[in-house]
Amino acid sequence: MEFDEVVRRRRMVRSFHAAPVPIAALRRALRRAVRAPSAGFTQGWDVVVLTADADREAFWAAATPPSDSAPDRWLRGVRRAPCLVLVCSDPQAYVERYARPDKVARRPGPQAQDWPIPYWDVDAGMGALLLLLSGVDDGLGGLFFGVPGPRHDAVRAALGVPADRRLVGVVALGYPAEPEKGEGSPGASSEAGDGPLTPGDSAATAPRRHRPPRRPITDVVHDGRFGTGASWVLDRSAQQPADTPDTLSLFETEPWLRDREPGDPTGRDADS
Ligand SMILES: Cc1cc2nc3c(=O)[nH]c(=O)nc-3n(C[C@H](O)[C@H](O)[C@H](O)COP(=O)(O)O)c2cc1C
Repeated sequence: MEFDEVVRRRRMVRSFHAAPVPIAALRRALRRAVRAPSAGFTQGWDVVVLTADADREAFWAAATPPSDSAPDRWLRGVRRAPCLVLVCSDPQAYVERYARPDKVARRPGPQAQDWPIPYWDVDAGMGALLLLLSGVDDGLGGLFFGVPGPRHDAVRAALGVPADRRLVGVVALGYPAEPEKGEGSPGASSEAGDGPLTPGDSAATAPRRHRPPRRPITDVVHDGRFGTGASWVLDRSAQQPADTPDTLSLFETEPWLRDREPGDPTGRDADS
């Protein structure tokens, strides 16, 4: 599938078929995910792949707040996902990586709390996106969802995740199911909200009609200075941003770029 199509097709799926994810697709997704960028090439991530019914049930039992009521639409749809990939991050790995000679001068401080941005979670998120995109490329649907804070310890205990790992989120993978009645049409679609896992964000309180629209790209992109519009992002006739050539000129003039082997020029690829 063309890259553009993969990106365009990727929408979060909240209703899955129970049909299993083919192992080739799962393997591809995981192998792509570990190609994600990571600060200092720390790779401070772990994923716990849950494909066995008993493992997924253990996850859901731990992740879902106890309730007397029947599972709501979100939970019914997502619970059928045949594969859950729990994405964890490891702050200590970054603390240790950035204590090494090549990085120590750049580290924000000796402790994880010193980091202005938690790169461990950023990196895990980048890997999660690759899981989602890879799934789309193989005709699967995916959902990234968070585990509510009060359930983290229970999920860690249920799946043997060490206490120092952060549960960044879960990628559910599977074939998209026909949406339940009332779900699925764009715009007016699912009232299923962002799921029952987040307290106060249940299907009852967060129907998707409250969701903001996609922000115009010209609101998001600033040119040179925050608040300066970048109309060129939409409009070919608008003045181009500074120092942008009309063509991919480097690729055209620099053979070393064109001929470069895909992957990592440092040779780290050799063992992947
Ligand atoms: C960090 C993060 C957390 C999210 N948490 C949830 C969640 O707990 N439940 C859920 O159903 N969707 C969750 N989503 C999915 C978003 O609701 C979704 O990406 C957004 O509405 C845009 O829709 P799209 O991804 O289909 O384009 C999350 C997405 C991100 C990036």
